[in-house]
Amino acid sequence: MVAIKNHTSTYPVGHAELKKWVQQIAAQCQPEHVHWCDGTKKEYDELCNKLVEKGTFIRLHEEKRPNSFACFSDPSDVARVEDRTFICSRTKDDAGPTNNWVDPREMKQTLSKLLEGCMKGRTMYVIPFCMGPLGSDISQIGIEITDSEYVVVNMHLMTRVGQKVIHQLGNEGEYVKALHTLGAPLASGQNDVKWPCNPTTKYIVHYPEERSIVSYGSGYGGNALLGKKCFALRIASAMAQEEGWLAEHMLILGVESPDHEKTYIAAAFPSACGKTNFAMLIPPKEIEGWKVTTVGDDIAWIKPGKDGQLYAINPEAGYFGVAPGTNVKSNPNAMKTIAKNTIFTNVAVTEDGDVWWEGMSKEIPKNLTDWRGQKYDPASGKPAAHPNARFTAPASQCPSIDSDWENPHGVPVSAFIFGGRRSNTIPLIYQAHNWNFGVYLAATMGSETTAAAFGELGKVRRDPFAMLPFCGYHMGEYFNHWLQFGRDIPNPPRIFGVNWFRKDEKGNFAWPGFGDNMRVLKWVVQKVRGKSNAVESPIGWMPHYEDIDWTGLNFSRHQFDQLMLIDREEWKAELLAHAELFGRMYDKLPKEFLFMRELLLSSLWRSPEKWSVEQE
Ligand code: OXD
Ligand code: MN
Repeated sequence: MVAIKNHTSTYPVGHAELKKWVQQIAAQCQPEHVHWCDGTKKEYDELCNKLVEKGTFIRLHEEKRPNSFACFSDPSDVARVEDRTFICSRTKDDAGPTNNWVDPREMKQTLSKLLEGCMKGRTMYVIPFCMGPLGSDISQIGIEITDSEYVVVNMHLMTRVGQKVIHQLGNEGEYVKALHTLGAPLASGQNDVKWPCNPTTKYIVHYPEERSIVSYGSGYGGNALLGKKCFALRIASAMAQEEGWLAEHMLILGVESPDHEKTYIAAAFPSACGKTNFAMLIPPKEIEGWKVTTVGDDIAWIKPGKDGQLYAINPEAGYFGVAPGTNVKSNPNAMKTIAKNTIFTNVAVTEDGDVWWEGMSKEIPKNLTDWRGQKYDPASGKPAAHPNARFTAPASQCPSIDSDWENPHGVPVSAFIFGGRRSNTIPLIYQAHNWNFGVYLAATMGSETTAAAFGELGKVRRDPFAMLPFCGYHMGEYFNHWLQFGRDIPNPPRIFGVNWFRKDEKGNFAWPGFGDNMRVLKWVVQKVRGKSNAVESPIGWMPHYEDIDWTGLNFSRHQFDQLMLIDREEWKAELLAHAELFGRMYDKLPKEFLFMRELLLSSLWRSPEKWSVEQE
């Protein structure tokens, strides 16, 4: 066993099994120091200072961006690595056809070699963290071990960290083990680089039965902040299936009506569909008295309450949002949220110590430093900020934060919304006939790719429930879990499909989006409350033109009609694509889906070739 120099535990830990695990990892990874994080501001400030000294962090202008930092990652380490992400369940069948799988015994052997001495020359941080408000029976505790200061400070913002979590855990509490290493040991006397990582070897590994995570080689976002996608979605979804709850890739928002009636909605959109913007929506001023509040922007944990209602918490405490495209029009609340105490990763830095990214303003500031740390040349045709540049900011700074966002009981969910990026076929808004059709709608959701990373640009990628990269078990079983979940509750939430991205015949977006999405949201809320009319279409319930509040927007009946059109030819192609998706997971596919597909097909055939709300 390797002796650990300077083993620093600043507070008592009575959990013997936890201490033993930490010692084991220290013996294997051989760090120079071990530091138990206490979660204090002092710790946060000291680590930020250390990152500034190392050259990783640039301290931004104290007045323009108080207590904020920018950093640039290694160009090999800029996003989640789906092809290096593994669900190592006991059998391949349990991971299902949409996950990478390796036999856990084999994976452990591979990782064990890589982990040997992987933290040499570095400090190993032990981060006790809680996903969700402390004391909530929906929350869960994790312990992340990492050799990255960047990870520690980001975890401070994204989760509840420190001694209070150890206190909550007690001497025998259960927790998720999350081991992270940069995979970049330092030889004695070797100088560190600004963004250490392993440029060639990366593994993001989940053992769902053991409820543990090992992440090797990357220091970026979801690969390294293990509370987020790894725990709160992949591991938690497997836990939720076993225990009868839901761990979902969903924002949670509250809608308050003029008579102060509050309705909470959870909504799933694939990456790059404006989820954070929707979660922080500001209604047009003409929709008088209506207000949107934010509970979460990315993940929802949902449990049935004793009263049969569903209650949701946001397991996170901060936002790790995509910066490019965020501006005072698309998301004024986000712009205010990131005004201070924020960490920016891979954005561009201005000469006066502020940040910039594509879409923040029309004009490109002069003398930018780009995300590669070089003087930016606008003529290069390359973006100054990386397209996946991020901000990490405390949720408490969001002006639209919901007063119950940390309520340990969660907030009651009345509706689910699912939406992808589709230039055709899918109408602006429709409500599934019932829970089962809603599950079908969500399972078959698709979105057009915006990044070349997923292959051909603009091609529809099926992303069931926006969970394709995040489901910790067989996707077919996940659908079954959702169907069963609805059967087990007396009055399940209503399920809606939206599409903000439909285009007109000229190829322009047909819907203004952003704040105007409130008009759709208002219909949804009133529909849920039985206060709104609807017409039955071949695919579900839809509003008439009259059912939407158009005050302050010049949007014609014809424009609306086009946005809502159900074109049989397009839907035939759509349903064929569903069959293709189902073929990939046929062994565990709910048989209901085959019949629902048939029902949809026959109702399309019995309707006009081009079905329109106006003809009804
Ligand atoms: C995210 C994602 O980063 O969904 O939230 O990709
Ligand atoms: Mn996400």
